[in-house]
Amino acid sequence: MARRPLIAGNWKMHLTVPEAERLATAVVASCADLPDREVMIAPPFTALAAVAEVVRNTPVLIAGQNAAWEKQGAFTGEISPVMLREVGASMVIIGHSERRHIFGESNQMVNRRLRGALQFGLIPVLCVGETLADREEGKAMPILEQQVREGLAEVDAEAAARVVIAYEPVWAIGTGRTATGAQAQEAHAFIRNVLARVYEKKLADEIRILYGGSVKPENIDSLMAEPDIDGALVGGAALQSESFDRIVHFL
Ligand code: 13P
Repeated sequence: MARRPLIAGNWKMHLTVPEAERLATAVVASCADLPDREVMIAPPFTALAAVAEVVRNTPVLIAGQNAAWEKQGAFTGEISPVMLREVGASMVIIGHSERRHIFGESNQMVNRRLRGALQFGLIPVLCVGETLADREEGKAMPILEQQVREGLAEVDAEAAARVVIAYEPVWAIGTGRTATGAQAQEAHAFIRNVLARVYEKKLADEIRILYGGSVKPENIDSLMAEPDIDGALVGGAALQSESFDRIVHFL
């Protein structure tokens, strides 16, 4: 089964509501002629409802940038998967490196969030990625394996088929330093192999694995040419309509 490419924009903690509406309008225009690929945007929570209104009845998908695992409750500062769905999100980013490294989210917490997202009908984008220190110590692949295995703990094959993985090496995020196509391909093939061992090869071959970390108009085509790179999770370059337009139109 061919994996449908997915280009995702993570807007992080950027944009006022009017700015978000303007950018979403431009993204909708960019996607008018792209039937062979999916495009997702993850606005900050405050702009979700307004952006969902802009993309209504268009192919552009909306995601939250994180989600709690319960439907409701005493979880100050959190947003539930049901609340995300209510405002029009169909996807959610889980375990982003900024959540892990700035806010201390563990693989166990990431797993809880991921299972909550699946339970309440959101497609999770599970982010994994090694730090520079991990890579220099030769531990990149074991760290990735642990993040994938623990992130997907107690997720059965049927649910796992709905998950998207994003490989985002921490040393490449916001640094302008992109993994080379070969480095990314090596990690993606490794992750797919882990998925084949946890589940089975057929399922592993169907799960999309995105690359994230300084994706730009200049490097998107060579990244997408790699056989195991099924899309991109774009930060900075997703905040400008021209650069995101070029990225979604990768060759
Ligand atoms: P940059 O594209 O700004 O490096 O961010 C990548 C990222 O973290 C996307 O989730």
